Amino acid sequence: MRRRVMLGNTVLPDFPVMLAPMEDVSDPPFRRVCRRLGADMVFTEFISSEGLIRGARQSTHKLDIFEDERPVGIQIFGGEEAPMRQAAALAEAVRPTVIDINYGCPVYRVVNKGAGAAILQDIDKMERLTRAIVDQVSLPVTVKTRLGWDRASIRIEEVALRLQDAGITMLTVHFRTRKQLYKGAADWSWMLRLKENPALHIPIIGNGDIDSPEKALQARDDYGADGIMIGRAAIGNPWIFQQIKHYLATGERLPSPTLDERLAVCKEHLLASVEWKGERRAVFEMRKHYRNYFRGLPRFKPLRIRLVEAPHLDDVLETLDAIRREYAGYTFETQM
Ligand SMILES: Cc1cc2nc3c(=O)[nH]c(=O)nc-3n(C[C@H](O)[C@H](O)[C@H](O)COP(=O)(O)O)c2cc1C
Repeated sequence: MRRRVMLGNTVLPDFPVMLAPMEDVSDPPFRRVCRRLGADMVFTEFISSEGLIRGARQSTHKLDIFEDERPVGIQIFGGEEAPMRQAAALAEAVRPTVIDINYGCPVYRVVNKGAGAAILQDIDKMERLTRAIVDQVSLPVTVKTRLGWDRASIRIEEVALRLQDAGITMLTVHFRTRKQLYKGAADWSWMLRLKENPALHIPIIGNGDIDSPEKALQARDDYGADGIMIGRAAIGNPWIFQQIKHYLATGERLPSPTLDERLAVCKEHLLASVEWKGERRAVFEMRKHYRNYFRGLPRFKPLRIRLVEAPHLDDVLETLDAIRREYAGYTFETQM
């Protein structure tokens, strides 16, 4: 049975489609674009608990939330109880919809400190830490994790039950192990196992490799997910949320966005990023979005290279104008 996602006073639509937390991607400008284009909920990139309590600008800046992006979860990570409690309190003060805990990040600099996916190796600690954060804040607490540390040690069913006991409101599972990093396919059969467990009643959100309306449908109807979270497929393609929702509601695909829509959304994203994080960082971090923003344009490589090599905002804007001139009237045939 599909569970409705209720986060405090916020009730999400049936089978919510959410933007995943992604470092240097899921910032307020991009989250706002995704919300407007259909994401039912968005998450911040992960924020270091240690950085937050030190007051490091890099971390506190990530607590910014735009009013029109709610519902939004703030994701924190860390390996120690006291700083995680303090960080949760600091995050709560900016009134997100939920506090999300990261028990899935596989990168060395995080697991090396006993945080992120490292906690999958110590489920007692995971439960303790979660309980401490649930006790600390009055907002709902959610968790995002992976299947396990490696294939031999997957205990996701036990993890889900223990986190539920600790008081979390929703669990998102990326169906890969830490050892897999991003390699191989996400193993969605674990969603079936989780949903078959009658003792588990919190909503389970599935994550990993959803990049089309058809895969979203499979996640809902074949695997019984209560909702899905989309990461990489949203980079440069924030339309994926409305594409999926339209397809799930009607069985039909929306046409691809027009060139003018793509240019307008790309420019809005870029300008809001410059305003929020400054020109240098915004121009640099936007680079990972261009391939998908303009996917399908024939012979696009030279202009894409110009976009990713442009050193300043003015150069990017000029290149966007050049794209408008070069491809005026172009109709996208491929559906996204
Ligand atoms: C660039 C990038 C940054 C990420 N940063 C985070 C993060 O801050 N917190 C987190 O929980 N997961 C993070 N992830 C993992 C994604 O949220 C997601 O679990 C993973 O990409 C699988 O989903 P996908 O196949 O839809 O991309 C990141 C992934 C990418 C590609």
